Amino acid sequence: MTDYPVPSYTLGERPFGVIARYREYLPLKPDTPAVTLGEGDTPLVPALWLSQELGCRVFLKYEAANPTGSFKDRGMTMAITKAVEDGATAVICASTGNTSASAAAYAARAGLRCVVLIPEGKIAMGKLSQALMHGAVAIAIDGNFDLALEFVKDISERRAITLVNSLNPYRIEGQKTSAFEIVDRLGDAPAMLSIPVGNAGNITSYWKGFREYKDSGNAQRLPVVWGFQAAGANPLVRGEVVKNPETVATAIRIGNPARGDEALAAARDSGGVIRDVTDAEILAAQRLLAQKEGVFCEPASAASVAGLLKYGSKGLPKGDTLVAVLTGHGLKDPQTAIEQSQPILHCRADLEAVEETIANAG
Ligand code: F0G
Repeated sequence: MTDYPVPSYTLGERPFGVIARYREYLPLKPDTPAVTLGEGDTPLVPALWLSQELGCRVFLKYEAANPTGSFKDRGMTMAITKAVEDGATAVICASTGNTSASAAAYAARAGLRCVVLIPEGKIAMGKLSQALMHGAVAIAIDGNFDLALEFVKDISERRAITLVNSLNPYRIEGQKTSAFEIVDRLGDAPAMLSIPVGNAGNITSYWKGFREYKDSGNAQRLPVVWGFQAAGANPLVRGEVVKNPETVATAIRIGNPARGDEALAAARDSGGVIRDVTDAEILAAQRLLAQKEGVFCEPASAASVAGLLKYGSKGLPKGDTLVAVLTGHGLKDPQTAIEQSQPILHCRADLEAVEETIANAG
């Protein structure tokens, strides 16, 4: 064990972070100090417009409310805590952006060196700014995420640097806590869960979490799981690797998911399915969430809602609860948001001109 500093002050009764909240379900020694930023406990937002549209009680699990703005923090608190427990001094990951942001933040907190491999030009600005600001060594390669993942797997096998991609089992352990939170809040599992799928770690985590919570008597049922990929990056729909994945949802621009078999098993065993949605459908869903629900998520996250709108005419649990997971914050990718929105109106600094502009804008 290293000497990771534990604050001597407390924050009252409310557990701080997912390890404090769910320690009994996590593979940690009882005395391991948690490296935490207070992740988890994210809002389950009732989606009023979507509920009417789909005929279900729809909730949005808003994972953007995690400290670095995505669900990755749940897994990263576990992966970094374990890395410290094991005496590691450095961590490495491949990333489409969010994993690198989260790894950089938690590594900074624990005093570990962090190296991130990212696909050149295909990572949203918010995510890049986080990795850099937290002091990670950021290396952009002239290749996609799948190749970057091969590289970091190889490096971590040969060198004293811990892999914190979701191949790391502790990432899955941490991320399963979102399923626990949903059950704790609803009183049981929802009838259906809808979730975007990229490298397939998160769908694997939720399915594990729901099963464990049912086995331990906290839930009576399991949800049907629907997973959604982007149409240009849909290996699990096609049943084969996609060599050159392409999508506006850069977070899930992945052609060879590391946990693909587990994702397919989760969908199959739950009575669900993995399907795909086009970039246009993803962006439309992102705008609808922002403009009808007031909820801003990044494009990859909107795939979960795009899929419900596209395929929801058949198979939805009408009248029952449905949770769509919104994995990351819209602010992660401001460029994609601005490009698809109404242009800003320019106006002279003159009161009458401003009033006229307002009137003309309708
Ligand atoms: N949504 C967002 C916002 C993501 O960043 C990711 C994955 C996913 C969904 C898909 O989750 O890979 O567990 O199936 N982002 C990874 C990254 C690949 O590097 O940040 P998954």
